[in-house]
Amino acid sequence: MTEGFDADWLALREPADCAARSAILADAFLDVLPPRPRIMDLGAGTGSNARYLNARAEARGMRIDWVLVDGDPSLLDRAALPQFDRQVLDFAADPAVLDIAGVDAISASALFDLVSGDWFARFVSLLGSRPLLAALTASDGHGWAPADPADPAVEAWFAADMRRNKGFGPALGLDAPVAMASCLAAAGFVVHQAETPWQLGPENPALAVAMVDGIAAAVAQYGDASGWNLRRRAALQSGELRLTVGHRDILAVRE
Ligand SMILES: C[S@@+](CC[C@H](N)C(=O)[O-])C[C@H]1O[C@@H](n2cnc3c(N)ncnc32)[C@H](O)[C@@H]1O
Repeated sequence: MTEGFDADWLALREPADCAARSAILADAFLDVLPPRPRIMDLGAGTGSNARYLNARAEARGMRIDWVLVDGDPSLLDRAALPQFDRQVLDFAADPAVLDIAGVDAISASALFDLVSGDWFARFVSLLGSRPLLAALTASDGHGWAPADPADPAVEAWFAADMRRNKGFGPALGLDAPVAMASCLAAAGFVVHQAETPWQLGPENPALAVAMVDGIAAAVAQYGDASGWNLRRRAALQSGELRLTVGHRDILAVRE
């Protein structure tokens, strides 16, 4: 795999992901599934998406049989779920390697901004009538309050980095939700969407600092963001900085 993800980072973001994501779309996804569905979670990492959906399923007396697929076995090793089938698989070259024949639905969280438009179109062509819940796809960049003069340059560099090839071809990056919705609608799916941004500030300092440092590291290849990084860290420390991180949830179902 071209792009690695750190288990500590996934653990840090999980509470913010749970708070941000659309319960309405998650419940609508569960509504269209059989009583005991088998769901494949793509790019499952340590199982955050499955944990979130399990909690909502249990609340309605539903049990999900999970197939967690990820290219990094060390992340799947850390998946805290009662029971699941695991598939260690790098699916970047071709989504057809995914064995979706026996599953009722596909889910993913924080994945599809990594893929290319071509990869996503090939993936959609495999779905058949299976519903897709794609949570927390990156979109719209960041909102910074108060603003810093270097924000526009840093945001442009960040958007460029999001489009970098992560093994799937040129990544959709921040354009992913719009491209995904259009591709799914063209394939005959009914597409529902919800904005699901993180709202960060003094109440979640560890994640906010990790975001600021992560952005600075990601954009270093395009220009010098070290001064911006110091000013943003100082503003976080003084409690005056609020940061919005754009995401969107998408539910695609057949009518
Ligand atoms: C941003 S993380 C999201 C993890 C998890 N869904 C979550 O929300 O916490 C992206 C995940 O996709 C996996 N991934 C990235 N590229 C992959 C590939 N080519 N094949 C399989 N898994 C991949 C990574 O290992 C990582 O677990």
